[in-house]
Amino acid sequence: MNQTVICPGSFDPVTLGHLDIITRASRMFDKVLVAVLVNSSKRPTFSTEERIELLREATKELPNVEIVSFEGLLAEYCKKSGIGTIVKGLRAVSDFEYEFQMAIANKKLNPQLETIFLTADADSTFLSSSMVREICSMGGDIGNFVPACVHDRIVRKLCQS
Ligand code: COA
Repeated sequence: MNQTVICPGSFDPVTLGHLDIITRASRMFDKVLVAVLVNSSKRPTFSTEERIELLREATKELPNVEIVSFEGLLAEYCKKSGIGTIVKGLRAVSDFEYEFQMAIANKKLNPQLETIFLTADADSTFLSSSMVREICSMGGDIGNFVPACVHDRIVRKLCQS
């Protein structure tokens, strides 16, 4: 069976933690759609286009990964696109309750939809995009937190804002 899965998120910006989940999903499934949420209530620092560009660069060695964006409900987007599986990372127990709620709500909205969780690798359990933004904007080194190929672009943007 040819299986396409979706890895959704804000990716503001992409981190090594996201890349770990995307890479492992790309080994497990035929195709991985990485879906960038457009209308985030979080008011993203990076525009949708910038987040897509960074993800394209970070995943360019993974031929079965495609970057897309979506607005509105994830469950509806999956229904429209014929996708039946969401893949998300779980970094710590604290992620679990929220992710569990989202998985159940998504299944209520679209009963065909399953959510699969991959445990984040040990180096990413503490990592988040807002931590990257904060460290970088205060002059800290984010070299261990973001993919090397997009490091300079992320730093340039965060130094401007
Ligand atoms: N490694 C590192 N960081 C990770 C990570 C990983 N594996 N997984 C998540 N994170 C971080 C993100 O960087 C982000 O950090 P920040 O809050 O500091 O910016 C944080 O965890 C939350 O991730 P984010 O991608 O912003 O959101 P989410 O996981 O909560 O969900 C969507 C994002 C797009 C899946 C969700 O908002 C959605 O489905 N929205 C569409 C509307 C909808 O359908 N709503 C109903 C849902 S039931």
